[in-house]
Amino acid sequence: MADAIEVEHLVKRYGDLAAVAGIDFKVRTGTVFSFLGPNGAGKTTTTEILEGLRRRTEGTTRVLGLDPWDDATALHRRIGVIPQDFRFFDKITPREAIRYYGALFHTNPDPDELLERVKLADKAGARFDTLSGGQKQKMGLALALTNDPEVCFLDEPTTGLDPTARRAIWDVIRTLKSEGRTVFLTTHYLEEAELLADQVAIIHHGRIIATGTPNEIISAHGRPERLRFQASPALAEYLRPKLALPVTVADGRVEVELHDKADALRVLSAVDASGIPWQNFSTTQDTLEDVFVRLVGQMDDGALKSETPA
Ligand SMILES: Nc1ncnc2c1ncn2[C@@H]1O[C@H](COP(=O)(O)OP(=O)(O)O)[C@@H](O)[C@H]1O
Ligand SMILES: [Mg+2]
Repeated sequence: MADAIEVEHLVKRYGDLAAVAGIDFKVRTGTVFSFLGPNGAGKTTTTEILEGLRRRTEGTTRVLGLDPWDDATALHRRIGVIPQDFRFFDKITPREAIRYYGALFHTNPDPDELLERVKLADKAGARFDTLSGGQKQKMGLALALTNDPEVCFLDEPTTGLDPTARRAIWDVIRTLKSEGRTVFLTTHYLEEAELLADQVAIIHHGRIIATGTPNEIISAHGRPERLRFQASPALAEYLRPKLALPVTVADGRVEVELHDKADALRVLSAVDASGIPWQNFSTTQDTLEDVFVRLVGQMDDGALKSETPA
């Protein structure tokens, strides 16, 4: 099957609030899909609908060809889930927890092998309440893998973790993908999506505002590449009338937008001809974070304007 997850016109209302306001997307089998958005965007709501834990208000959802709500029992045998804010009994050890899950799912996982895969073997016998945040998340991942799932849903698995622990979780996500599993990853960390995801959907106030690969989103919504010089604002004054290109000044830097490749040479020769001193030039391009901040900002501005009485 080409698509592990298919979503069409999904809506979820809580009373008057449309937490998910009509979204569409597909996730190809064996890829990492990142659902990116600020707090309250609708990530967990969507995730839990796909997991068969919440009922949708409208729309169609298919996970592994199944309806998550109507076919929940069949689906739960084939997916792995780490909920947001994963917690477990304080006194249980990772090894015991995996046996417990194995019994629950009627699978027979080897706890030590699973813990090895998530790099938690050294804590197999430690009580849950003595584990660090990162170790707890690894235990959650190990539990999500007890039934050898085809699709893994990870809801903000790295929120609040230190950089080393986050990288360890990223490694596990890469392993899941290399094993051919599909990963549905929600996060509000832009660089996480940029590093791990084949496809990204940016969700804000229940709507998808951009989708594609990180590069596609950047080229569709980012500003053009810019040539940047360390120089006084006088250089910008000199360049503006000479080049029909946007020139900006910020933090002691002059930036010129490039609209095609030949522009770079024109800019450099104009800078040279100016006689104004400058230091190290570089090119700069929007990151997914720049694009995200701008798109979300534009939407919030629009919302404010539409709420302001005339
Ligand atoms: N069970 C619920 N009842 C009412 N409102 C909810 C419920 N769950 C979430 N919401 C609201 O729906 C919106 C989306 O929440 P959520 O899906 O948790 O977002 P995210 O995971 O992106 O932070 C928020 O405004 C939240 O307050
Ligand atoms: Mg959430």
